[in-house]
Amino acid sequence: MMSTKKRFLKIDVRHGERIRKALLEHKLLDTDYRILSQDGRLIIPLRSGFEDEKLDSILGPIDYETGEMEFELISQSPKSLAEALENYLTPEELELVPRSYDLIGDIAVLEIPDELSKHKEIIGKTFHEVHRNFSTVLAKKGAISGATRVREYQCLSGEDRTDTIHIEYGCRLAVDLSKAYFSPRLLEEHNRIAQLVKENEFVVDMFCGVGSFPIHIAKQRRAHIVAIDINPDAIKLLNKSMKLNRLLGTIEPIVGDAKDYSQTHVADRVIMNHPSGAFNFVSDACRILKPRGVLHYYDFMGGDDPEGMAVNRLSKLVEDAGYSLATVDLVRRVRNSAPYEFQVVIDATIM
Ligand SMILES: C[S@@+](CC[C@H](N)C(=O)[O-])C[C@H]1O[C@@H](n2cnc3c(N)ncnc32)[C@H](O)[C@@H]1O
Repeated sequence: MMSTKKRFLKIDVRHGERIRKALLEHKLLDTDYRILSQDGRLIIPLRSGFEDEKLDSILGPIDYETGEMEFELISQSPKSLAEALENYLTPEELELVPRSYDLIGDIAVLEIPDELSKHKEIIGKTFHEVHRNFSTVLAKKGAISGATRVREYQCLSGEDRTDTIHIEYGCRLAVDLSKAYFSPRLLEEHNRIAQLVKENEFVVDMFCGVGSFPIHIAKQRRAHIVAIDINPDAIKLLNKSMKLNRLLGTIEPIVGDAKDYSQTHVADRVIMNHPSGAFNFVSDACRILKPRGVLHYYDFMGGDDPEGMAVNRLSKLVEDAGYSLATVDLVRRVRNSAPYEFQVVIDATIM
């Protein structure tokens, strides 16, 4: 770290914020250097070329000391990851550097295109230098796969771990990316559904993952939520989150196949957030719902009219199960799931 001899001002820490602001306003604070703290006093680096009277007029009657000492230069962080990588990658490669990343608790997750795979490590380390607030920088490895919807990760920088506590809308969610599905991009959806739930409702979340919907709902409403997932690790994480939050409602976690949930016509509301497989479980959801119960159905759809296609598909599946769509209260795209493909949600009442 580079250091330089500079003029300093030493004041009691009690006056620190007021004086820092005043010095900044009068252009006397040298912001390229780090302010030091020593024995309850702040040592502030000053710009050169001003009269002592100016300092007197800014400080007023408070005690202070001046002199000269070495100060550390604050490193000038590059503005973006691509800018920080300019010395390592070709202009063509720089075009491919990720512009965004997922932020999950204290973990950053990058999606590095195959063309840059040989530069993964340097991209991860440089990302960490630009964004020092993360404990861990991971890269996605391969696609999400299997019934549990989990993918692998490679640690590029920081602590080699995949578990963290993620906070969304004040809900503390225990997450372990290598063990159970979690996406930070669904927070609006988690909150939207929780707000629709009424007091004392009976809700079944057929594919709860780490339990984001159940925690959001139970934090906001005095409802009972049955939370099912086939992945035991997901339910372990939900059990952990139940201890991390002050909940109004009650959550009943179940490890198992949603098809095996044997209750019939008990739920006011059923959540089916398993977009790659929910269509296989529509008859089970209809069986679990009370008459005129609300279904939140998620699907992946492409084409020119993903919303229309999703409604047609759900309508047919509900009819095949011997029920009907009484009303479609909402249909919308939640997010892009692939190029030209969307995750679509339908809120519908089932008769
Ligand atoms: C997209 S994730 C759920 C995400 C979760 N709703 C959220 O918002 O974070 C789908 C989940 O369905 C679970 N799953 C897959 N097949 C299942 C089945 N037959 N019964 C219950 N859960 C299942 C997976 O383990 C996975 O956690």
